[in-house]
Amino acid sequence: MTPTIVPEVTLSSCDMTMPVIGMGTSSYPKVDPETAKAAILEAIRAGYRHFDTAFIYGSEQDLGEAIAEALRLGLVKSRSELFITTKLFASFAERDLVVPAINMSLRNLQLEYVDMYLIHWPFKFGKMVSSMPVEKGVLLPLDIKSVWEGMEECKRLGLARGIGVSNFTSEMLEDLLSIANIPPALNQLEVNPLWQLKKLREFCKAKGIHVTAYSPLGASGTRYGENKVLGTKVLQDIAKSKGKTTAQIALRWVYQQGVSLITKSFNKERMNQNIDIFGWSLTEEELDEISRLPQQKTIIFASIVGPHDVVRQIDAGL
Ligand code: A2P
Repeated sequence: MTPTIVPEVTLSSCDMTMPVIGMGTSSYPKVDPETAKAAILEAIRAGYRHFDTAFIYGSEQDLGEAIAEALRLGLVKSRSELFITTKLFASFAERDLVVPAINMSLRNLQLEYVDMYLIHWPFKFGKMVSSMPVEKGVLLPLDIKSVWEGMEECKRLGLARGIGVSNFTSEMLEDLLSIANIPPALNQLEVNPLWQLKKLREFCKAKGIHVTAYSPLGASGTRYGENKVLGTKVLQDIAKSKGKTTAQIALRWVYQQGVSLITKSFNKERMNQNIDIFGWSLTEEELDEISRLPQQKTIIFASIVGPHDVVRQIDAGL
């Protein structure tokens, strides 16, 4: 099968391009390394070139193994054909821990640089944390000025080609933009037909910050997600009328908002389906119908990391 060519988006603030679909590598419970590696190799065969990981997912090593194998097999000719994103864990969200943290991720990935390094969450943990929720006192506000200095150093040192954030509200982005020498290239957020984040997306657009959607299918199958996106009748009816799957309609809607996507499936058929959203489109009427769907957030941080004030404020702003 000929691999799908995924379009690229230009990230204006850092003068680079990124494939508009990335494959998410987190799994819960975590799949075994061989399964993860096989799925990533399958995704490369299908045409995925952008892979999304994070220190906390525990998938950096599996991705690193898969990249090394893809190069050995000649599935890609050089590392530069891939776009790799990883994220700074909240326990390392301090000025002097950022460069050591990216170096640890790079060792896990067996790479010399990542294409994108993101601040994973807009808060920090005051100590190393391996399970959540965390108790009071561990979760602290982020000192964005000092942490962003560390992120900028990653870029200056050539350890990350681009730097950005994830789960940042507009207020947090305002704070960041007021101190940044290098503005964030993107903000990775939960975006799907049932959590459209229109105001925050408009804010990002006005500031030249690209938005990438995670959980574009509402995180079905995770401990916090549900099947509600795929169970939405409006999406199912549009899918039926167009001969597409409900997942493809949800993904295509996100894409037509100018938002790039992280899709997550280790199943060959579904990963092929998720990349097959080009060469056809949703009509204005279909887009409008989806845009009017009642909204329901999936990722409630307070229920994942603990009901702390800082987190409640973030939930309210996302
Ligand atoms: P699976 O790995 O069994 O395919 P999200 O991207 O919103 O976080 O959702 C991820 C979940 O959606 C995964 O559990 C994945 O399960 C499922 N999924 C991914 N692609 C599809 C698809 N095309 N159809 C149905 N479920 C999908």
